[in-house]
Amino acid sequence: MLSATDIAKTFRSDGVDAPALRGVSLDVPEGRFIAVVGRSGSGKSTLLNVLSTLTRPDAGGLTWRGADLADLPESAIDALRRRDFAVIFQQHHLLPYLTALENTLLSFMTGFRSVSGAQRDRARACLARVGLSGKEDRLPGALSGGEQQRVAIARALVKDARVLFADEPTGSLDKATGRGVMELLRALADGGLAVVMVTHDHEWAALADEIVFMEDGRLRPASPVHEKADRKAES
Ligand SMILES: Nc1ncnc2c1ncn2[C@@H]1O[C@H](COP(=O)(O)OP(=O)(O)OP(=O)(O)O)[C@@H](O)[C@H]1O
Ligand SMILES: [Mg+2]
Repeated sequence: MLSATDIAKTFRSDGVDAPALRGVSLDVPEGRFIAVVGRSGSGKSTLLNVLSTLTRPDAGGLTWRGADLADLPESAIDALRRRDFAVIFQQHHLLPYLTALENTLLSFMTGFRSVSGAQRDRARACLARVGLSGKEDRLPGALSGGEQQRVAIARALVKDARVLFADEPTGSLDKATGRGVMELLRALADGGLAVVMVTHDHEWAALADEIVFMEDGRLRPASPVHEKADRKAES
């Protein structure tokens, strides 16, 4: 389980302090699908970046499977992030000159190690799992937006991550395509992958096991899920 306690993060721009997180605590148990909703600027992306260890908090604790990340050197945190965490963004960051298969294999291509046949098979299986069999050799430019986002998810699957962080993964997709991506995330969570997703869409948030609201750098939990989603829709 990933556990964050009393996380604070302040950005300083033009000599002015802008607190993005003001004491946020959140537990992410294995296999839990958590949706983070809130206004623009409320701190959602910052929270995701801190949880995924891309951003170091100013204060507060972060533990992963019982290990306090503050005790680990940067190199160990890098290794942990590469092994256990996967991040997908609104813009999926596929490399345009690599095929769907090669993009999926990127996690394995660290340093000068070459990719094994077994890893290639695994990448093909992951592309099949996201519904992209037969399109392995296409460049991103020859895939639809939803298909590109699914390659980004396959890239997360191929390394057998334990937690998937997704920052508005359907933000650039139409409703029907977004639904396909969301249903895939739901299925992955049912299979044991923890998912922490930022979304503006109350309908997608309702697919999660838990919804948390970010408000001015703080988290406001609410329940039950469907009521929360409806209230969000009205506001
Ligand atoms: N690198 C940075 N430097 C300075 N300020 C930052 C930086 N990143 C975020 N902020 C500020 O921190 C606050 C929270 O930003 P964050 O990106 O987490 O919001 P968000 O909830 O993800 O918003 P959105 O829904 O628009 O993506 C904002 O006031 C933002 O301007
Ligand atoms: Mg954001």
